[in-house]
Amino acid sequence: MNETVVTLAPGGRNQAVINEILTAGGFDCRNAAPEVLVDGLGKGHFATAVLTEEALHLLPIADLQNALAAQEAWSDFPFVVLVSKGDLSPATAAIIEALGNVAQVERPMRRGTLFGAVRSALRARQRQREARHFISAHADAECQLRVLAESLEARVLDRTRALSETNRRLKYEMAARREATDRMDAMQAELIHISRVSAMGAMASTLAHELNQPLAAVMNYVVASRHLLETAPEPAPQRILAALDAAATNANEAAEIVRRLRDLVARGEVKRQREDLPALIEDALRLGLIDASSSGVECRLLLDVDASSVLVDKVQIQQVLVNLIRNSVEAMQYSPIKVIRINARRLDNKLIEVTVSDTGPGIDAAILAAIFSPFNTSKRDGLGIGLSISRTIIEANGGSITGANGRDGGAIMRFTLPRALGVHRDADTTSSMAPSPAKRRHFLATAAPGNLAN
Ligand SMILES: Nc1ncnc2c1ncn2[C@@H]1O[C@H](COP(=O)(O)OP(=O)(O)OP(=O)(O)O)[C@@H](O)[C@H]1O
Ligand SMILES: [Mg+2]
Repeated sequence: MNETVVTLAPGGRNQAVINEILTAGGFDCRNAAPEVLVDGLGKGHFATAVLTEEALHLLPIADLQNALAAQEAWSDFPFVVLVSKGDLSPATAAIIEALGNVAQVERPMRRGTLFGAVRSALRARQRQREARHFISAHADAECQLRVLAESLEARVLDRTRALSETNRRLKYEMAARREATDRMDAMQAELIHISRVSAMGAMASTLAHELNQPLAAVMNYVVASRHLLETAPEPAPQRILAALDAAATNANEAAEIVRRLRDLVARGEVKRQREDLPALIEDALRLGLIDASSSGVECRLLLDVDASSVLVDKVQIQQVLVNLIRNSVEAMQYSPIKVIRINARRLDNKLIEVTVSDTGPGIDAAILAAIFSPFNTSKRDGLGIGLSISRTIIEANGGSITGANGRDGGAIMRFTLPRALGVHRDADTTSSMAPSPAKRRHFLATAAPGNLAN
């Protein structure tokens, strides 16, 4: 810290005496020419100045005033001026006035008085420097605060900008989502429309497919009746009546198929009740083997007695069996051996498994992969929907269906049906099939158009 005391005391031994006194008092003291004093004062080289009254008149007053005016806010340079006893001359008083912070010490003076004045001046200068330190620390803090405030403002601006950007994006996304939802609603409405149309299409093709058999049966019975009427030497009313009855039954069956299919396609409804499986299979066989193409086809049934009570929609399951039987008949068209085997066995407490297998060439590998898909056919005049309908029906009745090729050739179609639980009617099942006393019942039939009306 600068503690230098500059002295200026021209004339005689004044300078030497003052310096001697101050040096002896432990002050860092040096004398300087008037210009050097003023210049050093402006540059902060000294802590205080001790001058004699006479020295005041040597100072370059204008420069001194400039240097004092240029002091920083905290600074008020202290002077100690040694004056003569009595009133000051106006010129001296004016200079002292111009110096500002002046402590006057009368001459002749005592050492202690000079020490005290110089010490006070140094202490005052020291306090000013401390004030400067506080002021600059305060200014620093203010500056930091300003920087912080500015950066805070910048951050707030940034965040606001980011928020408004997010806001804009959100609004855009909301609009896009609303648009997507509207589009989805429109697509859904369109889809419902399309699925209705395709359900109607499916129903139309299903009806065309399923009505074929009973209508063929009706045709057969009517043709047979006509033939009987034409050729019989005598009217054979009983046989004609029976044939017409059968035609009526088949026509009814066709009507029933239409009704059930409509329910299935429109509402997925099935009318399940306890049914006798052997009787059901027997009816299906009669319907499936009705036309000339099934001539020479032999059917072998192996039905377990404890697999005879099922909980199904009878007409629908008959449709499935007719589809499978027709497929087997069509597949065996050129086969030397034409046998259809239908087996039924109890799988577990809940399910009964039915298999329909044949001695045909087996299912084509290209077809087998998607055999239950609609319109998958290897036949020139086939629609390829028989198995697709069959799967829909079996699943709607609570079962499942698979298709495969047998180890010895031929196709094996396998499906399950729910077992009718509760009271067992196996023992008193009424069927045209001859029940064997053993656990299994066997039935053998050879289809031939000739025995249709029997
Ligand atoms: N027992 C079978 N033996 C060999 N191939 C079969 C047998 N059953 C079905 N297929 C194959 O599966 C295909 C699909 O059968 P599906 O009954 O669904 O249709 P389709 O018989 O071709 O025509 P339609 O709709 O008139 O019944 C058949 O074209 C045939 O190639
Ligand atoms: Mg078919």
